[in-house]
Amino acid sequence: MEAIILVGGFGTRLRPLTLATPKALLPLANVPMLERLVRSLPERVTKVALAVHHQADAIAAHFAAVDCERMVITVPEPEPLGTGGAMRNCRDHISGTTLVFNGDIISSLNVEAMLEQHRATGALGTLALWEVADPSRYGVAELDGNAIIGFQEKPAPGEEKSNLINAGTYLLEPQVLEMIPAGHKVSVEREIFTQLASAGLHGFPFGGYWIDAGTPESYLAANAMLLEREATAAHPGASVRGNALIAADAEITSSIVGPDTVIGTGVSLDKCVVRRSVLLAGASATGAVIEDCILGPGVAVGDDCSRMVLTAEGELRF
Ligand code: GTP
Repeated sequence: MEAIILVGGFGTRLRPLTLATPKALLPLANVPMLERLVRSLPERVTKVALAVHHQADAIAAHFAAVDCERMVITVPEPEPLGTGGAMRNCRDHISGTTLVFNGDIISSLNVEAMLEQHRATGALGTLALWEVADPSRYGVAELDGNAIIGFQEKPAPGEEKSNLINAGTYLLEPQVLEMIPAGHKVSVEREIFTQLASAGLHGFPFGGYWIDAGTPESYLAANAMLLEREATAAHPGASVRGNALIAADAEITSSIVGPDTVIGTGVSLDKCVVRRSVLLAGASATGAVIEDCILGPGVAVGDDCSRMVLTAEGELRF
């Protein structure tokens, strides 16, 4: 089986981090999120086409340098074609039933179980669906059994047809890619899936975990969630509280690290307290209290910042 991963977006909600690093290469628990996704694919996925545009060269260079035990190619778009146009642009590079992912999602989706349902129903397309408590910020799928019979955008409280939102992972038959006009900007969610409702589109609700790591808050939440399984912090210079992950080459002295904190490679900290934060490669701080923050690569926090917090609007406050 072959897969398409959509990674051509600008990642505006994660600026300024995404000005220098494509969102797909931002690390989650110290592994670039796209590499994490490619490595997690079932063995049956032998080829992955990365639909790239923004910072395409950095993504291509990364996958040229790592071995993900399957063929990984990049398919560039001269202009961003939207989620549907990007898939169509990959058509000549893939064949058969295709697995499609948004590149900024981590989840416990069981692709094999989803494929089993896709085959059993004979669907043209199967969408992974994730249940949320409050769907008013999302589009929800209306189901009849497993068949998707409609979509509802941002339903008012109490009016929702379901609590199941599009989880950004699909199994699509080649006919679906054929429906997308070549070379045009097309949103697969708004322009193609809506046409397929009641006409061969099915849903696959799943449980476990699902996080779209596309905003500062959800990026921190995705890291914290992974730490529940991957925390291995131990460092002679750090007193660790709760879940934390510290890169082996980080230089830390007299500091408290954690909970829910990831310290990237080459980070240096002296006399700091770091909580619920992610410090990317080469960030440094002395005498600072850093809470609920993402420090970008190489960011140096001045001496004795008493408190540094990332606001809901994504601003750093001191
Ligand atoms: P924001 O600007 O913060 O909304 O982020 P984004 O640009 O990544 O957009 P969004 O999160 O809505 O995109 C969902 C997924 O589709 C991400 O993995 C994007 O990289 C990808 N994507 C969005 N638009 C395009 C596009 O025009 N071309 C390609 N190849 N991928 C896209």
